[in-house]
Amino acid sequence: MLTEDEARRFVPDGDGDPQTDIALAWELLYRLEPELYDRLVSAERLHPGVLDWLPRNVERIVEVGAGAGRLTLELIERAREVVAVEPAAPLCRLLNRKLSGADHRSRLRVTDGFFDDLPVTDDCADVVVACSALTPAPGHGGEAGLAEMERACRPGGCVVIVWPNHVDWLAAHGYRYASFPGEMFLEFASLEEAAELTEVFYPSAATEVRRRGRRQVPFEVLGTNPPRDLAFKEMAR
Ligand SMILES: C[S@@+](CC[C@H](N)C(=O)[O-])C[C@H]1O[C@@H](n2cnc3c(N)ncnc32)[C@H](O)[C@@H]1O
Repeated sequence: MLTEDEARRFVPDGDGDPQTDIALAWELLYRLEPELYDRLVSAERLHPGVLDWLPRNVERIVEVGAGAGRLTLELIERAREVVAVEPAAPLCRLLNRKLSGADHRSRLRVTDGFFDDLPVTDDCADVVVACSALTPAPGHGGEAGLAEMERACRPGGCVVIVWPNHVDWLAAHGYRYASFPGEMFLEFASLEEAAELTEVFYPSAATEVRRRGRRQVPFEVLGTNPPRDLAFKEMAR
C-alpha cells in the first residue's frame, strides 16, 4: 500500500497504527479512498481573501502536496507553468482526471515527489506553495521540507504556506502571517452529503449537523479552524 519511500517517511518505526496515528490514517485514506477524501475537501473551500492574496502572472509555481487539487485548480491560470508535486499515486490520478477538461491544462505538470526531496532545480519558481500539507514532522516536510521549498524559490520569490497548522514554527523561520476575516462554512453538495461526511470525519458533530438540517456547516460546529490564513516569506534578492 505504501511505497518504500512513503513508508520511510510515514511509518519510520516500521509498524504504525492508524487508530492512534492520525497523520498515518490520512495517508491511508488518500491511497484507499481518494474519492471520499475529495468529497470532503470539495466542501472545504479556501477563503477568497487567500486566493486574492496569491500572486498572478508569474512564470512558474511549484505546489507541494497538491492532493486532489483544491488549490492547484486555482493556480493554473496564474503562471506559465505549474508543477504540482504529490506523492500519493491515487490522488495524482484523480487530479489528472479533474484537470483533463481544464483551461490551460498544458501549463500544469503533476509529478511524484516529497517535501524533503523536491524534483525541481534550485531557484526555479516565483512561488512555492503548500496548502494544508506541510507540518514540522519530518515525514510531512519538517525542517528539511521547508528548506527544500526555499531552495526551489528564486530570489525575490515567495514561499507560501496556506492554512498553516504550526504558525509559531513558521514564524521562527522568518514567515509572516496573514488571516482573512468573516464567517466560514463547509459547503456540502447536499444535506445528505453533510450528514454522511460529518459522520465519517467528524463523528462528534454529526448529531448537531443533522439537527441544524443545512448543507452549510460552520467550521466551529466541527471544532476545526477554517482555511482563512497563510504564512509567507519573500526570499532575499
Ligand atoms: C490534507 S492534504 C492537502 C491536499 C491539498 N493541498 C489541498 O489543500 O486540498 C495533504 C497532502 O499532502 C501530501 N503529503 C503528505 N506528506 C507529504 C510529503 N512528505 N511530501 C509531499 N506531499 C506530502 C498528501 O499526499 C496530501 O495530498
